[in-house]
Amino acid sequence: MSDQNIFLNHFSYTKWIITLLLGFSAGVLDVSFFYIIMGIVMWILYRCWKPSTEPSAIKCQDKAKEQAKVPHKVTDREFERLRYLQVLVNNSWPYITKYLEKFLRWRIQPLIRSRFKYLTNFHFFDIDFGNKAPQVTHMRVQSDPEKKQILLDLKISLNAAVMVNVGISKTIMAGVKSVKLEGTLRIILAPLIPDVPFTEAVNIYFPRRPVLHLQWTGLTNLLNIPGLHTMTERMIVDQIANFMVAPKFFTQPLAANFDMKNLPFADPWNALRIHVLEARNLVANDFFSKKSDPFVVVRGGGTVGKTRVISKNLNPQWNQTFEILFSDLPGQEIEFEVLDKNVQRDDSLGSCKIAVPHVLKKKFIDKWIRLDNVKSGELHIKVETLKLFSDRDKLQKVLNLNKRPRPPKSEELSSVALYTVIQKARGLPVIRPKKCKLNPLATVEVSVTDTVKRTGAQINSGEPEWKERLQFLIRTHAARECN
Ligand SMILES: *[C@@H]1O[C@H](CO)[C@@H](O)[C@H](O)[C@H]1NC(C)=O
Ligand SMILES: *[C@@H]1O[C@H](CO)[C@@H](O)[C@H](O)[C@H]1NC(C)=O
Repeated sequence: MSDQNIFLNHFSYTKWIITLLLGFSAGVLDVSFFYIIMGIVMWILYRCWKPSTEPSAIKCQDKAKEQAKVPHKVTDREFERLRYLQVLVNNSWPYITKYLEKFLRWRIQPLIRSRFKYLTNFHFFDIDFGNKAPQVTHMRVQSDPEKKQILLDLKISLNAAVMVNVGISKTIMAGVKSVKLEGTLRIILAPLIPDVPFTEAVNIYFPRRPVLHLQWTGLTNLLNIPGLHTMTERMIVDQIANFMVAPKFFTQPLAANFDMKNLPFADPWNALRIHVLEARNLVANDFFSKKSDPFVVVRGGGTVGKTRVISKNLNPQWNQTFEILFSDLPGQEIEFEVLDKNVQRDDSLGSCKIAVPHVLKKKFIDKWIRLDNVKSGELHIKVETLKLFSDRDKLQKVLNLNKRPRPPKSEELSSVALYTVIQKARGLPVIRPKKCKLNPLATVEVSVTDTVKRTGAQINSGEPEWKERLQFLIRTHAARECN
């Protein structure tokens, strides 16, 4: 029996309640709002485990059986409506906003400074999220004892007046007056441990893109900045929304000895080869020619790929291949959107999705998928799950396999997945920005053949530490050198 099962079995009624109260008072005393989340989870778990006559709750069986068998899922029920949750959220909102403020100043501000050349003095001036808490109406709890994690899904909606002002050096340039946010937030408690605080870390993200609307003041000032002038309001909001969506997640360690590599979903160990083959019966978008100029956008694993445009064809054949690495972060999808190429704005010809766990389970998928949000149209897709091997003998086999003749115009396939960890640097020169007291920052740019990835920004004290994990897929021609 694993440690975690022991901890779940031995937890008694009283202990749940005490944990809840402890969690709650810790929050009120401004220790950390994560303890409040912990408190909620403990309470829910207690509810699911207590002996009960409710048909939906898991009944306690006799002692021996109970020892032998811990239910795999805490609850399979769909989202349930919970009123007490809103009370908790209302009460913890002041602490959550304090946390968000720190998060923007200490995590987001340096990130923006390091990413945009013209924003090295980017600054959050005011951050006030108001006192209206988001509505958290529905919740679902799932546990995965095998992976030692508990999933908590919260349906949240926020529609509030806020005051967030940003600028450069000492000048306020733009601000956000109100925020509308709607989506399902997932909190993963992992890895679980049989000791306080019961989980080494709290991980937060949106499995799907939330709906986000911002009301701006002075946005044109911001968009006039050289590095930003090619952006639109839509693109800025997209960037903000994408920042919170899988495969990105935010981790708050709770245990002192937490290490990122203990998370079951820290690294993307699943490689998928996605073939976008063809489509049929697409709708005609051009009124005069009764045709469309279709292409497909493939999104997944934090990457975006595009096929070529095939003009004036409602049954196009692309035969193109995309390779993407996926982590085991629950709830990920591969999204396909068929678009009609236009001079001004590309119009949608429908979209469809495949769940990544479904592909991983089946290993291989070859099917026509009906496109959503459109009158007619189907997309033919093939997805293969690639196995990653760590022994060198297999590489030559793969290289030979990938060298086999392929149809013209098709992309080269990958043969090697490279995993890097950027730990720290030593003896870096510290270049202080002139005329301001801001800390100098350092990022690492790693380029492997034609792919470039960057770490986040860390304060450069001469020995900055990133501890970031970056992964690359390497195509066959470049992989020969790895042998
Ligand atoms: C939570 O706060 C909102 C206002 O911010 C209020 O309308 C709502 O009734 C409160 N809900 C509960 C359950 O306390
Ligand atoms: C796409 O692949 C199919 C099957 O291999 C082939 O018959 C077809 O000619 C290819 N089409 C293009 C445009 O390459």
